[in-house]
Amino acid sequence: MKSDQALLQVKSLSHKFNNQEVLNIESLNFKSGKVYGIIGPSGAGKSTLLRILNLLTPPTQGKVFFHNHDIYRLQPQQRIEVQRKMAMVFQKPVLFKHTVKENVAYGLKIRGSDSKEIEDKANEALDRVGLRHLAERSAISLSGGESQRVALARAIVLDIEVLLLDEPTANLDPGNITIIEQLIRRLNQEMRTTVIMVTHNIFQAQRIADDVIFINEGELIEKASAEHIFSAPQDKRTWQFINGEMIY
Ligand SMILES: Nc1ncnc2c1ncn2[C@@H]1O[C@H](COP(=O)(O)OP(=O)(O)OP(=O)(O)O)[C@@H](O)[C@H]1O
Ligand SMILES: [Mg+2]
Repeated sequence: MKSDQALLQVKSLSHKFNNQEVLNIESLNFKSGKVYGIIGPSGAGKSTLLRILNLLTPPTQGKVFFHNHDIYRLQPQQRIEVQRKMAMVFQKPVLFKHTVKENVAYGLKIRGSDSKEIEDKANEALDRVGLRHLAERSAISLSGGESQRVALARAIVLDIEVLLLDEPTANLDPGNITIIEQLIRRLNQEMRTTVIMVTHNIFQAQRIADDVIFINEGELIEKASAEHIFSAPQDKRTWQFINGEMIY
């Protein structure tokens, strides 16, 4: 299923909250195996877009295709299958009051995996994020950086195709930011997971994204390779945002 074709496609999308349009995107494609950075001012619609891609918020109008399937028109069973191919990590990780390993294993349990597979995969995911030594600790006793790494382990244990990240490092110190960025890159390179990451930090987008999408007031202003968008932005608003001159 992993190919060079567009994995996710957004078409004629419009989303309104209380009759107010917050997102209006004619067309946007995400290819398999790439890392995308979504940047834009506060309130631009970045999180709303991620939620729409992740089947969490049905758009007021328009369509989202995953492997050419219109995801908001699927039968319940197909919908579950699509949901199982994606995972989202938020700015603030939400962990259960159980051990770290139980948190990581949760998704596998509800998928009905057997206990040996759960154990092996949870350990492997914990190794990946460098937290195997904390497997038996209570998840709520972890630091912010450790919690975010557990949230990532919980996503990657599931063998997903798309990882959606909404400002995953916004609350972290530089050391943990580096760890999370390396993890995201390795995940993309070794597992070919497509990554779509919202970030306020344009340097972070520059560091890890192949392509960058700039959204402003609900509109897609520019999409280009990270190299191009930062060195030669085509739209004045992109230039202003990148240079810290956009007032919002
Ligand atoms: N559940 C909601 N109900 C009403 N309005 C909402 C809701 N969620 C978001 N909005 C509004 O939609 C607009 C886009 O919000 P969104 O959270 O997508 O922006 P964002 O780009 O993620 O911003 P930030 O960078 O601050 O996280 C904002 O004006 C916000 O107030
Ligand atoms: Mg947001």
